[in-house]
Amino acid sequence: MENVKVMNHPLIKHKISLLRDSSTSSKEFRELVSEIAMLMCYEATRDLPLKEIDIETPMGTARSEILNNVKVAFVPILRAGLGMMDGMIELIPAAKVGHIGMYRDPETLNPEQYYCKLPTDIARRDVYVLDPMLATGGSAVGAVNILKKAGVKNIKLLCIIACPEGIAAFTQAHPDVQLFCGTVDKGLNEEGYIVPGLGDCGDRIFGTK
Ligand code: PRP
Ligand code: URA
Repeated sequence: MENVKVMNHPLIKHKISLLRDSSTSSKEFRELVSEIAMLMCYEATRDLPLKEIDIETPMGTARSEILNNVKVAFVPILRAGLGMMDGMIELIPAAKVGHIGMYRDPETLNPEQYYCKLPTDIARRDVYVLDPMLATGGSAVGAVNILKKAGVKNIKLLCIIACPEGIAAFTQAHPDVQLFCGTVDKGLNEEGYIVPGLGDCGDRIFGTK
């Protein structure tokens, strides 16, 4: 699938392995999610536009490149997406940030939207949706629906662990959205958890279980 990119970097692979480990503490878990997000941000922003300028170095003039009028927004899906924010914003501090709250009903697995606050100029920005887990795909599909309704044209989704079911559902609903996955696992269990996955990402980030 040309719109799906699975990360192939040793550092990402290594950090995802540590993330999966059930003995990883909340502190380490949070640090890893942020670091993986930073590495994925590097991959997902390869197409940012550049312009040439002259820079005076101590040794002379360098024809050099800088970002050209980049307008991006990061939109974490609450709660777990928040864990990816620090790593992203460290690389692009000028990004604006929107929040979409999605709660997955444990019975139906359907996403329920409970919060949405987006930058007023979101329609003029390239938007990176952040959620560590792409399970059934319902939350990500719902979040992108909201962004498209708000007029956003260029959207990318970054998730750390995906599975075939989530990728199929997402790419079918939003074939125009580029999907970046840290890794792709075997599938879902009866409760809609990714296996082997890493468990409940929000609970592991925030220590709520
Ligand atoms: C988790 C995760 C995703 C969603 C993925 O959130 O962070 O948002 O599940 O599942 P899906 O692809 O089947 O929709 P959850 O609903 O557990 O909420 P939380 O982040 O607040 O814990
Ligand atoms: N949400 C999670 O946090 N983990 C999963 O495996 C699936 C959905």
